[in-house]
Amino acid sequence: MKGTIAELQHVVDHAKECIEAAGLTDRCRCVPVDILEKVPERDAYILGNVIHDWNDERSRLILSNCRKAMREQGTLLLVELVITPGNELHLAKLVDVEKLVMTDGGRERTENERRLS
Ligand SMILES: C[S@@+](CC[C@H](N)C(=O)[O-])C[C@H]1O[C@@H](n2cnc3c(N)ncnc32)[C@H](O)[C@@H]1O
Repeated sequence: MKGTIAELQHVVDHAKECIEAAGLTDRCRCVPVDILEKVPERDAYILGNVIHDWNDERSRLILSNCRKAMREQGTLLLVELVITPGNELHLAKLVDVEKLVMTDGGRERTENERRLS
């Protein structure tokens, strides 16, 4: 399996060094992107802890950019925390507070909210 890290330029610069140090240059490429503008064409995408940084409007824009870039039968995997029902302590609820403080509208979402977004 081969993969591409699509990230902001300064992250790509550092990631390249790490990939070389790990001896993975034949399997892993890095490309600078702004996912709010465009994402590269690939068969499958993994967005890990990305959507929780964005408000609903920008989350839809990012997902729509993936949809435009991927082939018809492509796959998109979202790796995100899910807010559970009830008032029990849960990591997603703590990270939700962090997103409230540190981002412009980012948030963790319930399972239902994820389906709607
Ligand atoms: C919460 S981190 C998640 C990083 C990694 N996927 C993980 O799970 O550890 C969100 C990532 O989104 C990247 N990011 C933020 N804005 C971006 C943009 N406009 N285009 C591409 N990547 C962006 C940041 O550089 C950061 O690495």
